[in-house]
Amino acid sequence: MIHIPVMLEESLRFLITDNNASYLDATFGRGGHSSAILDSLSETGCLTSFDKDPEAHDHATRTFQDNRFTFMPKGFEDLDQLENISIFQGFLFDLGVCSSHFDNSLRGFSLNKDGPLDMRFNPTKGLPLLEKLKLITEPELANIIYGFGDEKDSHRIARAIKKALNKSEDLTTLSLAKIIADSKRIKSSKTHPATKTFQALRIWINDEMACLEKAFNTIADLGKSGCRIVCISFHSLEDRTVKNFFRPQIKHYPKEIPLNSEITTAFNEIGKKIRPSQEEIEKNPRARSAIMRVFEKV
Ligand SMILES: C[S@@+](CC[C@H](N)C(=O)[O-])C[C@H]1O[C@@H](n2cnc3c(N)ncnc32)[C@H](O)[C@@H]1O
Repeated sequence: MIHIPVMLEESLRFLITDNNASYLDATFGRGGHSSAILDSLSETGCLTSFDKDPEAHDHATRTFQDNRFTFMPKGFEDLDQLENISIFQGFLFDLGVCSSHFDNSLRGFSLNKDGPLDMRFNPTKGLPLLEKLKLITEPELANIIYGFGDEKDSHRIARAIKKALNKSEDLTTLSLAKIIADSKRIKSSKTHPATKTFQALRIWINDEMACLEKAFNTIADLGKSGCRIVCISFHSLEDRTVKNFFRPQIKHYPKEIPLNSEITTAFNEIGKKIRPSQEEIEKNPRARSAIMRVFEKV
């Protein structure tokens, strides 16, 4: 599957307010957005891109030769390790998985190709999904499936997965997808019955929501005024996390600041729930569920 960057033109239009400035692409992937950002910048503009996936690192090393570009093989939750957050004029987050993650069955993301239950963006850190599933209880698993997947049949699915694991079945992506599908009472005709559960397990195994909040906190604390954050999300939980973080800014300020003190830093939402065009959706079905939001630090 060819990777086509989602909402490319719209995201660049909001992100780049000065083509001589520095930008940060928090999710390099296969470099679609990064490459277009570099094309839009002048000779003095700079781009730093993050991705925790070693395949993204390989891709950046092999294909990007530009002295205005730096790749950091890190998660965006580690943005606070950069000394110079305040140099960036804009931050781009294009969340979720790349098509290349689904293409490679060994990564364990795909519902339709058999592979090991892994699903880590960085397979060199932590435990693969199969091992983590063995470590949690059935109620914990049900909470994950409901909380991160909004899956109504979460209890039935959790029971079926734990039962299969107790029989010490060597579960793979396809066998897990079948167990989930068989345990569901209500099946949508539009999507695979295991879609929501796979999404929930991926979010959980990669601690995606906590990573996102940590990165946003760093930008809220250390980003310069006027910097922009452009976020493309693909499901309602991600979009809710993005929206809720930037709207009620006050709750993210250090506890030692009393609530009645003057808070001078906040974000304006300047691009609200922007959707891809029908033309883009027709060319790139992955764009179908994309929602873009843009915030500017005041
Ligand atoms: C949708 S893809 C980005 C595609 C990219 N915009 C492009 O045009 O090729 C999302 C990427 O985010 C990466 N990712 C997920 N969580 C991350 C994190 N916490 N920090 C850095 N990268 C992350 C994934 O490895 C994946 O490559």
